[in-house]
Amino acid sequence: MRSIGIDIGGTKIAGGVVDEFGQVLAQDRVPTDAGDPGALEDAVATMIERLSAGERLPVGVAAAGFIDAAQSTVYYAPNIRWRNEPLRERLEQRLGVPVVVDNDANAAGWAEFRFGAGRLVSDMVVLTLGTGVGGAVVIGDRLLRGGFGVAGELGHLRVVPGGLPCGCGARGCLEQYGSGRALQRMAEAIADAGGIGTALAAARDAAGGVLPGPEVGRLVGEGDPGALAALDELGSWVGQACASLAVAFDPQLFVLGGGVAAAGERLLAPVRRGFLDHLPARGFHPEPVFATAELGNEAGVVGAADLARLHEDGALRPH
Ligand code: BGC
Ligand code: NA
Ligand code: ZN
Repeated sequence: MRSIGIDIGGTKIAGGVVDEFGQVLAQDRVPTDAGDPGALEDAVATMIERLSAGERLPVGVAAAGFIDAAQSTVYYAPNIRWRNEPLRERLEQRLGVPVVVDNDANAAGWAEFRFGAGRLVSDMVVLTLGTGVGGAVVIGDRLLRGGFGVAGELGHLRVVPGGLPCGCGARGCLEQYGSGRALQRMAEAIADAGGIGTALAAARDAAGGVLPGPEVGRLVGEGDPGALAALDELGSWVGQACASLAVAFDPQLFVLGGGVAAAGERLLAPVRRGFLDHLPARGFHPEPVFATAELGNEAGVVGAADLARLHEDGALRPH
């Protein structure tokens, strides 16, 4: 059975028609207007209609926020203006097709578990390092949802007591130390300091005073020492957080996804170091594998579609 997956992130909406093997048969993409929930809903509805092409396919919508246990309402989205947004009801009313709403990182993580880096394990933790930091926890082959539906919001794990303020209202969250925006901030500070920051500073000047995220990624790819120093700093925070997550969930595998994970091994190395430096019972604690996501940008779409399909089949407990 085919289904539709829609992935609403902080910067773009991606959608696709996906088969039961996780293959994307058709796809679509538009930028997110994060400040205007009405325009966002219009864009999603239009995309679903276009992808359905007159057929009645189940729809999974992955959204960057805290979702209720009924997979229906977005309680809160730190980077999009949704507050108690009844997204499922609105879309079902508009489109007349079954819709399930899930957290974007849960969807991406589920896709990695079913079809990507996590195919061979039963227990894994996924962190998506993008505009925000998202999480997904798979325990005993099931996605952990928690008592209220909001388990796996790992971007809001506190890593720094009294640290930087976060879009969730708390301080010191992993999101402020592990996201693409955090990497930009760290790179800006290195550019300011001169020395190894010279290439970063030049890229910033060329861009008119603000260092663009893709430029940091490009310099990381070139092995620029300043950009790598920023990535090391980010990686060490992510690794520390993983040490705490290992204590809670005991995964065999950590998967890192999102834009920052495009750095591949250059990210994984400092993450592994940060992990080992903070791992309780180090030397005796079995060491999980660290890998980057395999499905890339499509993970959210594939996972959302798969969750919608399983939901239709009744294979997932609907809550
Ligand atoms: C949100 C999560 C989301 C993540 C990645 C975080 O700020 O709280 O719900 O999964 O960003 O988009
Ligand atoms: Na999540
Ligand atoms: Zn937070």
